[in-house]
Amino acid sequence: MPTIATLTMNPAIDVSIAVDRIVPGVKMRCQGGSRDPGGGGVNVARVVKRLGAEAVAVYPAGGEAGAQLRRLVAREAVESVALPIAGETREDVTVFEASSGSQYRFVLPGPHVQDLEWMACLKALAHLPTRPDVICASGSLPPGVPNDFYRRVAAIAEGYEARFVLDASGAPLKAALDGHVHLIKPNLAEMREYAGATLDETALVHACRKLIAENRVEAVALTLGADGALLVTADGAWRAHGAAVTAVSTVGAGDSFLGGMIWAQAEGHSWLEAFRYGVAAGTAAVLAAGTELAHAAEIHRQWAGVEIAPLAVENAA
Ligand SMILES: Nc1ncnc2c1ncn2[C@@H]1O[C@H](COP(=O)(O)OP(=O)(O)OP(=O)(O)O)[C@@H](O)[C@H]1O
Ligand SMILES: [Mg+2]
Repeated sequence: MPTIATLTMNPAIDVSIAVDRIVPGVKMRCQGGSRDPGGGGVNVARVVKRLGAEAVAVYPAGGEAGAQLRRLVAREAVESVALPIAGETREDVTVFEASSGSQYRFVLPGPHVQDLEWMACLKALAHLPTRPDVICASGSLPPGVPNDFYRRVAAIAEGYEARFVLDASGAPLKAALDGHVHLIKPNLAEMREYAGATLDETALVHACRKLIAENRVEAVALTLGADGALLVTADGAWRAHGAAVTAVSTVGAGDSFLGGMIWAQAEGHSWLEAFRYGVAAGTAAVLAAGTELAHAAEIHRQWAGVEIAPLAVENAA
């Protein structure tokens, strides 16, 4: 069974609340209040575990919320390597307004992580009890963690001869791409921020090809929300659409996509087949309410509805 390690430097407890209408100045009677473990890598670990791989989640945890996070991760049968920090783990809140169907997401910056604390995370990652087949680092970096952090994670993955998968944006993504990453999964806004704000689809594919030609990445999975996703590898470019669905909640769609894709590749599937599982997991995630992630049965059901076609994009002049 493949082992997938995830790294989440800014994990959270995701609190999910429902209210009929958001009105200022009055007490709004709410429902829900469910608490789920969250943060990019924690979510990816939960999805790959549901699909049947062994998952170990590495993350810093502090205070009461950090202790609760460990319990919530254990509840999902995901193994934790939680490194103690002096700061308090953040709690993010998603409010679902029933009358409009809108979701409001309140996200905190996260606690300051001291030098010795983030170094301890890297050390723990480098000394896992079982050699991981894949290391997936995902999410924002909290205050105190340097922008070249994911570049250091890439070096650890190389030491294990593990695939390094990264879901990050901005300066931390740029720094990581100075080294070698197996797969990146930007969304449209993140890829445009990296490659150029006004790029159309053809230009975005060219930007992905350039990253591959420069040996920075093996592949790019560019997710496009309701418009599906693009996959670019050295062998070609493809566009995928999931089955037409009415999205209930898009929270965790990107993490579910990545979990589906990583799991499938760790199981020995090709890039294209892994991409199909990614889109299936993204579709399954938007059918799940609140902060719920994709469930395995729904991912397998959605798999049959994913359509993939090669993209005819000429090489850049
Ligand atoms: N509204 C939607 N309808 C159908 N599928 C969706 C929708 N939103 C997302 N998906 C699916 O989930 C995948 C990932 O979504 P998206 O591109 O929004 O990722 P993201 O921006 O990284 O998400 P996140 O907010 O979780 O970080 C998409 O490629 C698609 O398959
Ligand atoms: Mg994302």
